[in-house]
Amino acid sequence: MKLADSTAGAVAQRHSGGPAVTAALDEMVLLEPVHVGDIVRTFAQVNWAGRSSMEIGVRVEAQPWGSAADEPLHVASAYFVFVAIDADGRSRPVPGLMPETPTEVRRLREAEIRRAHRLARKEEIDRGRRA
Ligand SMILES: CC(C)(COP(=O)(O)OP(=O)(O)OC[C@H]1O[C@@H](n2cnc3c(N)ncnc32)[C@H](O)[C@@H]1OP(=O)(O)O)[C@@H](O)C(=O)NCCC(=O)NCCS
Repeated sequence: MKLADSTAGAVAQRHSGGPAVTAALDEMVLLEPVHVGDIVRTFAQVNWAGRSSMEIGVRVEAQPWGSAADEPLHVASAYFVFVAIDADGRSRPVPGLMPETPTEVRRLREAEIRRAHRLARKEEIDRGRRA
């Protein structure tokens, strides 16, 4: 989780051109066990960008120790929400996204679905607490 968060943070900082903090871990799925000695690598990209927040998708792969010729295993995926902040810790604007490839368009559409669910869940919980 730390590795995925660090990778997402690097991508968020690169996209936003400055500091960005983890605001939420939306979902993390663990698909395969990782064993001591496996070589782990991470890949991440900005799926969606709002005013100051970004959804970063992370893929974690592991190359099993002792079987370097095998294809790496997809062992985990996660979606983080990062918020770009200024020197005072307040949110600051980030560049928008211009998806070009079909994969980028798909990632953006799916990130919008997750964001809509996230907001709807929060709204429903808040309403229940006010009642
Ligand atoms: C993240 C943080 C800066 C947001 O502060 P805030 O006062 O809610 O800021 P704003 O109201 O301006 O909202 C900023 C953005 O964050 C988003 N946001 C805030 N909390 C969120 C959450 N829990 N989940 C998803 N998005 C969230 C808002 O939707 C908004 O997005 P937008 O600008 O793209 O529309 C603040 O909560 C914070 O500093 N949290 C601690 C972060 C931290 O310490 N992380 C661990 C170390 S990296």
